[in-house]
Amino acid sequence: MKNVRNISIIAHIDHGKTTLSDRILEITGAVEKRKMREQFLDSMDIERERGITIKSHPLRVFYKSKKNGKVYEINIVDTPGHVDFTYEVDRSLAAVEGVILLVDASQGVQAQTVANAYKAIEHNLEIIPVINKIDLPNANIPETELEIEDLIGISSEEILKVSAKEGIGVEDVLEAIIGRVPSPKGTENEKLSALIFDAKYDKYRGVITYVRVFNGEIKPGDKIMTYSNKQVYEVVETGVFTPDMTPIEKLKAGDIGYIIAGIKEVSLAKIGDTITNATDPVEEPLPGYKEIKPMVFAGMYPGVPEYYEELRKALEKLKLNDSSLTFYPDHSPALGFGFRCGFLGLLHMDVVRERLEREFEMTVILTAPNVEYKVILKNGEEVIVNDPAKFPDESMIQEVYEPYVKLSIITPPEYLGKLMNLVQNEKRGIMTSTENAGFERVVLNFEVPLAEIIFDFFDKMKASSRGYASMDYEMIGYRKSELVKITILVNKEPVDALSIIAHKNKAYAMARKLVDKLAELIPQHQFEIPVQARAGGRIIARSTIKALRKDVLAKCYGGDVTRKMKLLQKQKEGKKRLREIGSVSIPQEAFLALLKVG
Ligand code: GTP
Repeated sequence: MKNVRNISIIAHIDHGKTTLSDRILEITGAVEKRKMREQFLDSMDIERERGITIKSHPLRVFYKSKKNGKVYEINIVDTPGHVDFTYEVDRSLAAVEGVILLVDASQGVQAQTVANAYKAIEHNLEIIPVINKIDLPNANIPETELEIEDLIGISSEEILKVSAKEGIGVEDVLEAIIGRVPSPKGTENEKLSALIFDAKYDKYRGVITYVRVFNGEIKPGDKIMTYSNKQVYEVVETGVFTPDMTPIEKLKAGDIGYIIAGIKEVSLAKIGDTITNATDPVEEPLPGYKEIKPMVFAGMYPGVPEYYEELRKALEKLKLNDSSLTFYPDHSPALGFGFRCGFLGLLHMDVVRERLEREFEMTVILTAPNVEYKVILKNGEEVIVNDPAKFPDESMIQEVYEPYVKLSIITPPEYLGKLMNLVQNEKRGIMTSTENAGFERVVLNFEVPLAEIIFDFFDKMKASSRGYASMDYEMIGYRKSELVKITILVNKEPVDALSIIAHKNKAYAMARKLVDKLAELIPQHQFEIPVQARAGGRIIARSTIKALRKDVLAKCYGGDVTRKMKLLQKQKEGKKRLREIGSVSIPQEAFLALLKVG
């Protein structure tokens, strides 16, 4: 085990993790050069197109040290870069002894660099700081060095400088992994404990569980148990990632690999859970396991009722592979039968919607996402509400609580004023502290309602800082709040799926913007359509969609019909995204109008 090293690469988004992993694969000969396509490890289509890593992909390589001539096994766990998936970063870190902290030389230390570095420190990991992209003309190596020194208190001699793209300095990274990261502890003689740090669903083989074995060993035929739910399985295959899945006889203490054991869906192989021997289990699970909870909720409806079953099947299939997706059947008077879905964040929601479109050819109507509220009723009852349409009537409510996050923003000092204004005046945030972070960088810490940052916050923050600020956030719990429900009426009829929850002080402004936006998005009809917002039993905003003039109508209809015919040829009936609400057709964009006015 002396010649094994387990590491993870952590970085702010786009600082080059995947590129560095690709180079390592190439140098160690794990992937032949001609087979090498850029970003080998980002295998999901959506990941490749968006250039982001969503799922972690472990890999094992062998490297012969130039310093001592010995061959080392290096296991590398790549980590997701987006804040929606930070729990997975945390679990990946629990599987390793050291990290490469990768920092883009042209951008310096960013919010997730800091958040990830702190996580590595919490896990007591050896940190190898690496400055990447030194080939860029605007690389600022001395400044980046100062920022890293300041962040983790390391001297500049210990910081490596590389260009993952050009392959410069990558061997030094491998030598540093061997020289600085401790080999795994633990022994094969103890009871089996293995950490699940990821799981994937395979159509043919069931769930493939990615594990780090801490103690004991595991081989085909063994009876294993998942600690949190006490489910027992028989191991069918054990193997490692080279990076393709390659079966091996057994996995032992210190190893990173996979287990196939007839597990039917990924929600049974929970990330962070411990696998132990069913007949001789450990008394205590490995530390740090948390149930992943969705943070953002939205209604999802098939275009036409006949596709309800198909949508349910598609969601079930996605769920096999994505345990953080939740859904249950729901009914909306406006949109009919559908589902209430829970997501980790907006990116996750977007990925699910896109996968439904690509993999299942399902076009769905999504309602505006919202967070989960705790409402204490006057009769003392506590209810959890994740659907604005089901928010209790004001007259019944005693108190309302909403989720808050700790938000950290890192920025050059010149944007400090604008950012403070954004968070405190527009987003109901409270500043809790500021710190200097190295050279010309300030960290601003706030407490902010989660609802305020899930929509457009990221873009606004970027706009307020000419793209220089970066952010990270984590849940800190529920806080009492003054919230009201806004109901939207289209042509005098309430449309439940357009309801939103807003803070009292922002309700008027939001209602105003929302009715204006809806009036813009809903097409003209032959009659005038009032769009109204109601809160606390009163209409607080109104906008009107004018009736179409006759002549215009005739023309438009002609065009429309032929266009519709063409559309119908291409798509199935349900794919058109108009909903008839009473006598009014509402397009899909209207249900997401809130995203544009938040
Ligand atoms: P996430 O998975 O989304 O967090 O991104 P990542 O950290 O894996 O970054 P990735 O490897 O996808 O690189 C982001 C971009 O930076 C890509 O366009 C790379 O080609 C580019 N890049 C990575 N390393 C270098 C480098 O050394 N030099 C230059 N010039 N570009 C680089």
